[in-house]
Amino acid sequence: MVLENKLGITSAPELAEAEERISKKKAVELFESGMLDKLDAGKTASLQAIHKYLFDEIYPFAGEIRKVNISKGNFRFAPIMYLEVALQNIEAMPQATFDEIIEKYVEMNVAHPFREGNGRSTRIWLDCILKKEIGKVVDWSQVDKEEYLSAMERSPIKDLEIKYVLKNALTDKIDDREVYMKGIDHSYYYEGYTTFKAENL
Ligand SMILES: Nc1ncnc2c1ncn2[C@@H]1O[C@H](COP(=O)(O)OP(=O)(O)O)[C@@H](O)[C@H]1O
Ligand SMILES: [Mg+2]
Repeated sequence: MVLENKLGITSAPELAEAEERISKKKAVELFESGMLDKLDAGKTASLQAIHKYLFDEIYPFAGEIRKVNISKGNFRFAPIMYLEVALQNIEAMPQATFDEIIEKYVEMNVAHPFREGNGRSTRIWLDCILKKEIGKVVDWSQVDKEEYLSAMERSPIKDLEIKYVLKNALTDKIDDREVYMKGIDHSYYYEGYTTFKAENL
């Protein structure tokens, strides 16, 4: 099943290729524009703005909160019934320390507000918070994909692993484009499609 897209693409590999190419181009533009520094770090609206910027040429739902339930592996992300309230609670979470920021990131991942593209947009959102609050970002090239994904899978139950993995990759190279781009690199982070639950069909 191929997601509805603005490109009129009906084959999954073709969409994956176009989506990766365009979202990377948009991510570079987003970085160069200086817009990320103007966003209100940690707000839901900022995450929506990032998502819209990355995916507006591709998906009709860019920047919009999803209206269907989704899951990955055995994990169901926040049910749409509670999503709005969850997002309000998450943006109100404190973000003064590294631990608080990761706890907020973990909750935002549990929310998974978009139909697709949560990983990439939320990693950029995370870097914005880290940059503003503690003057550091994650050097994603120092993060092992398998370790990251297993720590993220574990994170709704226990956040020690993801804190450990990301803490070890912190850098003060906050304005380095290469460091930033690694966070959305498909060869590092692509792990297949998000499941659209049967109850939505
Ligand atoms: N089983 C899981 N439980 C919780 N979070 C997960 C799980 N699998 C992946 N993730 C997180 O979700 C992200 C993928 O979400 P997705 O919406 O597909 O984003 P993208 O399309 O940008 O990769 C991963 O990068 C990871 O952070
Ligand atoms: Mg995906």
